[in-house]
Amino acid sequence: MADLTDFIQQVKRANDIVDVIGSYLELRRSGTNFMARCPFHGEKTASFNVNRNMQIYKCFGCGVSGDVIKFVQEYESLTFMEALEKLAKRANIKMPELSSDMRDGERAARKKKQDVYLEICRDTAIFYYKQYYGPRGQAARDYVQSRGFSADTVKKFGIGYSPDSRSLVSYLRSKGYSDEDCLACGVIQRKSTDGNSDKFDALSRRLIIPIFNMQGKVIAFGGRGMTEDITRYGKYKNTSETPLFSKKDNLFAINIAKEQKQQSALPNIVVVEGYMDVIAMYQAGFKRAVASMGTSLTDNQAKWLSRLTSTVYICYDGDSAGQKATVRGLDILDKAGLEVKVMSVPERLDPDEYIKKYGSDAFERLIDAALPLADYKLKLLENAFPTDTADTAKRNDNLAKFVKGALIMLKQLDDVRQSQYITAVSLKTGFSQEYIRRKLTEEPNDAAAAPEMSEQLSPETRAKYFVAASLLAGEDYAVINEKPLCDTLFLSDLYDYLIDCGNQGVKPSADMLYTVCPNATESEYSAIIDVDFGKSRYRQNAQYFAECYELIVKEKLRRKRDELLAKIKRNPDDLQLLNELSSISTKLN
Ligand code: CTP
Ligand code: MN
Repeated sequence: MADLTDFIQQVKRANDIVDVIGSYLELRRSGTNFMARCPFHGEKTASFNVNRNMQIYKCFGCGVSGDVIKFVQEYESLTFMEALEKLAKRANIKMPELSSDMRDGERAARKKKQDVYLEICRDTAIFYYKQYYGPRGQAARDYVQSRGFSADTVKKFGIGYSPDSRSLVSYLRSKGYSDEDCLACGVIQRKSTDGNSDKFDALSRRLIIPIFNMQGKVIAFGGRGMTEDITRYGKYKNTSETPLFSKKDNLFAINIAKEQKQQSALPNIVVVEGYMDVIAMYQAGFKRAVASMGTSLTDNQAKWLSRLTSTVYICYDGDSAGQKATVRGLDILDKAGLEVKVMSVPERLDPDEYIKKYGSDAFERLIDAALPLADYKLKLLENAFPTDTADTAKRNDNLAKFVKGALIMLKQLDDVRQSQYITAVSLKTGFSQEYIRRKLTEEPNDAAAAPEMSEQLSPETRAKYFVAASLLAGEDYAVINEKPLCDTLFLSDLYDYLIDCGNQGVKPSADMLYTVCPNATESEYSAIIDVDFGKSRYRQNAQYFAECYELIVKEKLRRKRDELLAKIKRNPDDLQLLNELSSISTKLN
């Protein structure tokens, strides 16, 4: 492990963070730091800060931070080892051999398996693609033509065809893949009936739509039935959950959205339900659509989207956007910091059908007419609880229900928008703004954000953060003699590193935070790197450090005293214990 840490440091020294990030983002100098628009959440003003001295980045908008390796890892969606390897290559440093103490053996094995699965998926995609153009692909080509997709579109999406249930199996065997691996990545299936060695391609006779991950690698397939008996066999069949693919963690065509973003800024992304919608939109010139593949949106999908854009348009079939599960999905996007707008397509058409029927200009107008999430929720409430009825009792009942729903919606808004929408709700309902405001404060505000981390922490814990930050920053007054009590893995790992540096007489470096504590939360990182050690604050900081350290030492002594007291209770006559107790009590006072 020590070797690996050394190697990591060597790679980092050879890859200045400003140079590396500068090759991905446009950086502007600002004092001694560099600023850019944050690639991890959509934003218009630059709040992403790269600090050359500390060799770390931090976004003041969304709070993410990291070192050069973490940046490459996150930006390219790589594993830690892949990012390290990439940076080593960039600096012409040879990656050390895969020895078991250099790499976690199991992780390496898993990674290797993953590479095999990716290769199998790639070869499978190539097989299907060739079949589409082969002698048996006529039906597929006819079908694609009937749906109006061009040859370019077929190529762009890598559309293919599975001619039967056996060919793929023998093709993959001829390529030297084991059945076991092919089963594991979901491209072939075992026949459930007899349980023996009978393997088959479950997407047989279907049009194949490959699903790519963010890096543009095939990870799964959707297969659309082309005959009219799809009611019997299902319209779509997809690769099931595999180590590479899970429907709820991926978005169809996210690779294309990423590609678009790399060419120019991506002001928004349209999320639709189906493969065919994305494909039809692409062909019509809307190259920023992704599909949720018919399931409700998840945190992970929100994360991918917020890395690519700031605004998401939801374009779901008919009324399905209004279903409860879907509104929850919209809230997830909203919580991820995305601006959410909801489109509605008339006549219960899906985007593919709408574009075919009315053209792309008309579709563009639907985008323009999309409702902000808050307005959309009000509209849903109005539909659910109409107040334009003559029945007074009914009307009042609906009005009450409407307000109740509106209050929930209002609570989720930031202050500025809340004011705006209080006005709107007041106008719609006839209740005064004061009344609505009072209602908002009356009920427990469950939607309110959790208090800032610093408020939740005990003084001792805050002290530990400050002391660690001072040590990490190499402040000359920062010296400790012992490791504090650490109740989190983060603090414990960090102090081990700091104390190790002290013992070896080397200066700690801030960016190592992300190496020694790879799994910490953003607020843990922030508690360390956000401390201001400016020269003007030297005296203040030095004094605060002394106070903090005292708290830490005292906490440890108190813990010792409690332990001693417990022991003394069991052995009331042990003089040694009593002596120890008295010496600790003296120190504590
Ligand atoms: N879906 C699925 N399995 C099904 C039905 C649907 O995985 N049995 C997913 C697919 O990703 C599909 C999406 O849900 O693309 C939306 O379904 P639907 O609207 O029925 O499909 P379309 O994409 O519109 O396909 P088509 O136009 O060919 O009917
Ligand atoms: Mn459709």
